[in-house]
Amino acid sequence: MFPYVPQGRGVTAAGRCATQAILLAAAALGREEQPEVYRHVHPHGRATAALARSFADAVCPGGGPSLDEVALGAHLHDFGKYLIPRSVLLKPGPLSDEERAAVSRHPVYGAQVLSGLPAITETVRRVVLYHHERWDGGGYPEGLRGTRIPLAARLVTIADVYASLRAKRSYKPTLTKPEAAGEMEAMAGRELDPDLTSDFLKFIGC
Ligand SMILES: [Fe+2]
Repeated sequence: MFPYVPQGRGVTAAGRCATQAILLAAAALGREEQPEVYRHVHPHGRATAALARSFADAVCPGGGPSLDEVALGAHLHDFGKYLIPRSVLLKPGPLSDEERAAVSRHPVYGAQVLSGLPAITETVRRVVLYHHERWDGGGYPEGLRGTRIPLAARLVTIADVYASLRAKRSYKPTLTKPEAAGEMEAMAGRELDPDLTSDFLKFIGC
């Protein structure tokens, strides 16, 4: 499930194996104990990882963040949702301000928990921490703006948004590719890096 746990850059083979084993155990525990959260974190994480990896490869050939780090950060970006009370995370109706604030802590929780693992590099940690930052500075947890948001996180945010728009969820219909592209065009320059969004839309053939 985690073939892209990075090697090299100070990550030893033992550290890589230990990280894979712990992530697998956490996923198995999540599937058993919190199946609704698991279904969001892992299947959506895998879809986001595959998309982010191939997009990063297309847009940063031979440069930029390593593809394994992008993919692992993408897979684990919502890992912190395991630490949000299920009564809040799975609440069917609208959230109160306090509940919304609780949900918005998931990037910080995920980064804190995962950073204890030997193969969670700084790039992976930053993807998890910053995947809800916005290009215009209106995101969270730090309100970073523009290129102050690490490139790997901006790539993953775009893949996350597209995968979410195209996914079937109980509360929204599946969007077609052109519909999702239209939504993303509207988000470019506000939520999303405008140049990377333009690259992404070409990448998916829109
Ligand atoms: Fe998230």
